[in-house]
Amino acid sequence: MRNYLLFYVNGVRHQIAGERGFQALSEFLRLDLGLVGTKVVCAEGDCGSCTVLIGRVRNSELRYEGIDSCIQYLYQLDCAHVITVEGLKGGAEKIHPVQKAMVDAFGSQCGYCTPGFVMALAAMLETQENLTRDSLQDGLTGNLCRCTGYEQIIDAGLSLNQKGIPKPSKRFEEEAMLADFTEHVAQAVSCEFEEKWNGSVQIIQFYVPTTLNEALEFKQNNQHVTIVAGGTDISVQLNKERLEPNCIMSLTHLTGLEILEIENKTVIVGAGVTWTKLGEYCQQHLPQLAEIISIFASRQIKNAATLAGNIANASPIADSLPFLYVIDAEIELSRLLQDGTLEKRWVRINQFYHGYKKTEMKADELITRIRWNLPETDDVLKLYKVSKRKDLDISTFTAGIWLKLKKGKIQNARLAFGGVGPVVLRLPETEEFLRGKPLVSAIFQEAGKLAREEISPISDVRSSADYRFQLAENIMLKFFHDCCDNQDNKEAA
Ligand SMILES: Cc1cc2nc3c(=O)[nH]c(=O)nc-3n(C[C@H](O)[C@H](O)[C@H](O)COP(=O)(O)OP(=O)(O)OC[C@H]3O[C@@H](n4cnc5c(N)ncnc54)[C@H](O)[C@@H]3O)c2cc1C
Ligand code: FES
Ligand code: FES
Repeated sequence: MRNYLLFYVNGVRHQIAGERGFQALSEFLRLDLGLVGTKVVCAEGDCGSCTVLIGRVRNSELRYEGIDSCIQYLYQLDCAHVITVEGLKGGAEKIHPVQKAMVDAFGSQCGYCTPGFVMALAAMLETQENLTRDSLQDGLTGNLCRCTGYEQIIDAGLSLNQKGIPKPSKRFEEEAMLADFTEHVAQAVSCEFEEKWNGSVQIIQFYVPTTLNEALEFKQNNQHVTIVAGGTDISVQLNKERLEPNCIMSLTHLTGLEILEIENKTVIVGAGVTWTKLGEYCQQHLPQLAEIISIFASRQIKNAATLAGNIANASPIADSLPFLYVIDAEIELSRLLQDGTLEKRWVRINQFYHGYKKTEMKADELITRIRWNLPETDDVLKLYKVSKRKDLDISTFTAGIWLKLKKGKIQNARLAFGGVGPVVLRLPETEEFLRGKPLVSAIFQEAGKLAREEISPISDVRSSADYRFQLAENIMLKFFHDCCDNQDNKEAA
């Protein structure tokens, strides 16, 4: 067991112990290291001005991704290499080709957002993707600029294409860092400090286990512990001081939870799988979910955030849930019994939520895997997300609609709507109505009216209850036009 975190910033080694490990990375970079090129604007993952590259050991090499440093805490960064905008400069060159491209294309005015854009572009060089207008728009979704205008920034990105620019991380000596990480990564990290306030003393602690058993044992002994996976929900709450946990466990080192495989048409997703990895996988195997993932948050968020975190966070507008409900997914919950035996149970997602933010997960359990069967050829699946903005926005309303068809009729139906109640809702009466019915528009019009009766939306900052009632009704007809128009034409003929 170690009592310090080990990581590198721009090739320089750091050992961090005690209270210092509880800082957001952006704070550490700016205040402790004076690396003020990394900017902070929103402190909640929304603007990208704090983007840095984070390299973690995967298959014996360091793989780098762009991450929002304002919502990555140091306890998530053990055995990682952070590259900031200052780290792009190297050798005799004064500025990096990405920075030069921004200058040449007039991609910066006040310059406050610029280091974030530069790092997001550097992340695209790191993953060696083709820099087209589409890929740049996608890669820069998480970066906001108030004054330059995005055209010039896109032009800067386009000018980098085909120039054979080496990966930014190649400026650093990887072998020495890898050897250092390999020596340390098998040791769990535990750090604590005493917080004294108003005459009382509190022990604040974080723990970074290296095996599932260690993690479950810690959970068994510290049932109030706050679990952090990608931290994209938790860290926003920490930054906004809505949460002040005194015990944190980071799952960063549980690489065993990063499995993503398919076994006899059953997809198995480990709790450590990020939205980025799931998105890549779904492009081939589940295009309907890939479409939703393409409008989920930004790359910086998807590189850190996990599907398991989305489920455990238990928000009624979590984007994964309508899909998981209608595909009838199961969640694997694991815990350690008193005698040290590992116990696992599968719970259907449709039984997982007991009320707003209340789940079936017990205080000593962790989500370890999620599984579902791929849709069959006669299944129709469609997923919807309605939000004020298309990209990087929280959903106002979500829906998952799944139908099993037989001889032109609906044999079975599953509907799940989000944002219309304290949890994502299945619509049993509308589902029952649809069973045995033909695929004609009048049926979906009627189903829409029934759907209104089964939901209980409220008005909030994102929309009025009336708007959500209307969406729930209209989505049924939209589904019909999206998926069944041809069938209706056949009926009419
Ligand atoms: C800018 C921004 C944009 C976002 N956009 C979207 C969006 O478009 N759609 C959407 O649905 N969400 C969105 N989110 C929310 C968030 O990114 C997702 O909910 C994400 O999937 C959470 O995953 P995480 O790994 O970061 O969770 P964390 O923040 O690490 O954890 C979330 C919760 O899950 C618990 N938890 C995590 N892993 C486990 C586990 N294995 N076992 C038990 N409990 C666990 C944690 O204790 C915590 O309660 C956004 C967030 C931000 C900051
Ligand atoms: S400061 Fe806005 S994303 Fe980090
Ligand atoms: S250049 Fe001013 S915010 Fe982008």
